[in-house]
Amino acid sequence: LYHVLGAKQFSRSELDELFVAAKGMEEVVRTGGNRSHQGAIMTTLFFEASTRTRLSFEAAMSRLGGSVIGTENAAQFSSAIKGETLEDTIRIISGYSDVIVMRHTEIGAAKRAAAVADVPVINAGDGAGEHPTQALLDAYTIQKEVGQLDGVRIAMVGDLAYGRTVHSLSYILANYRNVMVYYISPENVRIPGYVKRYMDEKGIRYEETGDLESVAGSIDVLYQTRIQKERFPSLEEYEKASGHFIVDEELMSRMNKNSIVLHPLPRAGEIADAVDNDPRAAYFRQARNGLYIRMALIDKALSGINR
Ligand code: CP
Repeated sequence: LYHVLGAKQFSRSELDELFVAAKGMEEVVRTGGNRSHQGAIMTTLFFEASTRTRLSFEAAMSRLGGSVIGTENAAQFSSAIKGETLEDTIRIISGYSDVIVMRHTEIGAAKRAAAVADVPVINAGDGAGEHPTQALLDAYTIQKEVGQLDGVRIAMVGDLAYGRTVHSLSYILANYRNVMVYYISPENVRIPGYVKRYMDEKGIRYEETGDLESVAGSIDVLYQTRIQKERFPSLEEYEKASGHFIVDEELMSRMNKNSIVLHPLPRAGEIADAVDNDPRAAYFRQARNGLYIRMALIDKALSGINR
């Protein structure tokens, strides 16, 4: 079964192949979709809120001719609220569908699901752990907008402790040559040691700094993130982390003309609305790319299934 559980599972050649497939999906969407997975069913099981990930997965399945089932809020409306274990829930859903896309509050939940599933499981975010499909669409966006991932200079900014997208994106970037990562965050939400150890193992250059202004002029990508209020142990800790590193017109004036600003979204004030009109603001194009990447992932997951 082709599970997508974490970003470390992707090799350089798999990434190249996926991005070619995603490019092909852009053409499929342009021509109104196809029926390549007619009759297939995808379950979306989201225990946390989502706009982009869930709806782009659902749109992706629809564009490929398949159907989608799911509950609006699995934490509240699935039988988890009656005490059913995640494992039992997955065993049941495996009997109803061909692929499961799951978001959960707990790190490692997707791996637990895959261990008992009879169909592919795609991790749509596991707590503060990983968000591999977001990182794949981020990397695809960088390739499209900057031209290549080899040699990219990127600043990951904001909540690097709870921000699962920066963990996954770091792992994806570790496949490329001459990458430079600047980790820029408030003191209490620094990039975890286990991410740095992985980058060390892979020989990827990185630097931790609190000085976004100095770095802004020497990067290709500014990857801004939200301070994730819902994950902090106390309001006091959240307040220590919030309000730093705002991307505004002044910061944009320090950036190169060919650089881009990305954000997994949603944003909560860390990119000023005035920046949206700048052609380097690529975050809405980035979100759109999620559709193509997720179509390619669904297609690959379903292609390995004998129903
Ligand atoms: N980027 C992202 O995961 O957005 P949602 O939480 O809206 O799915």
